[in-house]
Amino acid sequence: MSNAYSKDLERWMPRLIAVWRASRGRTEGPEGRLTPQEVKEVAAGVKQLSLGLTRERQLAGARYMDDPRLLGAYLLFYWPVSYAQARQVLGELPSRPRHVLDLGSGPGPVAFAAMDAGGGEVTAADRSKAALTLARALATEAGEALATREWDPMKKGTELPEGQYDLITLGHVVNELYGATDEALKPRAALLESVLGKVKRGGSVLVLEPALRETSRNLLKVRDLLVERGYAVRAPCMYRGACPALVKETDWCHAERAWPMPRVVEELAKAAGLHKEALKMSYLVLAPKGESWPEPPPGRLFRIVSESLEGKGRQRYIGCGPEGRVGLAMQDKHRTEQNERFFHLQRGDVIAVTQTEAKGDGIAMGEGSEVRMVAQAGRGVPPPPREPDASATPPKA
Ligand SMILES: C[S@@+](CC[C@H](N)C(=O)[O-])C[C@H]1O[C@@H](n2cnc3c(N)ncnc32)[C@H](O)[C@@H]1O
Repeated sequence: MSNAYSKDLERWMPRLIAVWRASRGRTEGPEGRLTPQEVKEVAAGVKQLSLGLTRERQLAGARYMDDPRLLGAYLLFYWPVSYAQARQVLGELPSRPRHVLDLGSGPGPVAFAAMDAGGGEVTAADRSKAALTLARALATEAGEALATREWDPMKKGTELPEGQYDLITLGHVVNELYGATDEALKPRAALLESVLGKVKRGGSVLVLEPALRETSRNLLKVRDLLVERGYAVRAPCMYRGACPALVKETDWCHAERAWPMPRVVEELAKAAGLHKEALKMSYLVLAPKGESWPEPPPGRLFRIVSESLEGKGRQRYIGCGPEGRVGLAMQDKHRTEQNERFFHLQRGDVIAVTQTEAKGDGIAMGEGSEVRMVAQAGRGVPPPPREPDASATPPKA
């Protein structure tokens, strides 16, 4: 599987292994791969992290980055995952960020993703000194400059750094802040509001979270609090009201993308008994105060927010667009050249459709419908075409 960032990720793998070995006081080992003994050792940490951060959640907010074994497992398994997730979402930003701050950086996967996506001056901030030390070691290994600093929003005296940024990222950290109950939602929104205050006009705050039902829904609830306070979402939402995925307790919204999974990650997943095929994450790109929602291009637009829901003789998805969250369906027998696209959509694609008919609680398309790809998953939705400038001098005949 080849993505725009495959080569970059490939270059990071030997650096991660070299920095991990050095952090464990080892000088020997095959370049760019782990020995079977190392795989076994790291996989035990990966298993513990996976249980603690996803299934049981008792590690969320705990100091696991300060345990060298768990930090090592994070570096070799979760770092490449977060890096790839961030590269995917960074592809949707309207402009290349130069001045970047990565909060809750850990050993820096999102910081380095932003750097590889064009960030010139990048600062990584976390409360874990051990994680920041590894981030600096990785920068040295890559021959890059990375500033680091201590930051803990839950502790006085470690405020946000000075300055204004083009992009501030928070990768898988928001869900670890202010506890595990609904009481955490308001302080999380308030934190994001103060972070948004440090973003330049035209810049963005990017929040990545695990694609679990609870963490995704909590991100959507925080989104709603910010939308209520007048903030605009750049991606993935096109609906400007309260998130419709929150209406039913069983719904949530996440992205899923194919990715160039490195061999080491594959080996560790297998040894830890985990399934890790597609990249799954929830994300939000927010605009600073005073900026309006991106104007969508013309047409009746929907982002595909479900997997393919094939039924008897028909294709279905859930779409979410400027008019809300809607079931979209088309019967196989109505397939034409103009709507063929509908039968091959991926979660995250944005389409424009015509000639629809209300059916149940969704809409159906027929033979006369057109289905046009507006933006493939991972690409930004293009703005509407510019009106010709009426004041411009007409060309000479
Ligand atoms: C799951 S890791 C994410 C690391 C990296 N951003 C990524 O996307 O892979 C969560 C990070 O949040 C940090 N963190 C948790 N609570 C924090 C707090 N109160 N202040 C600062 N950082 C915190 C942890 O130290 C850890 O590095």
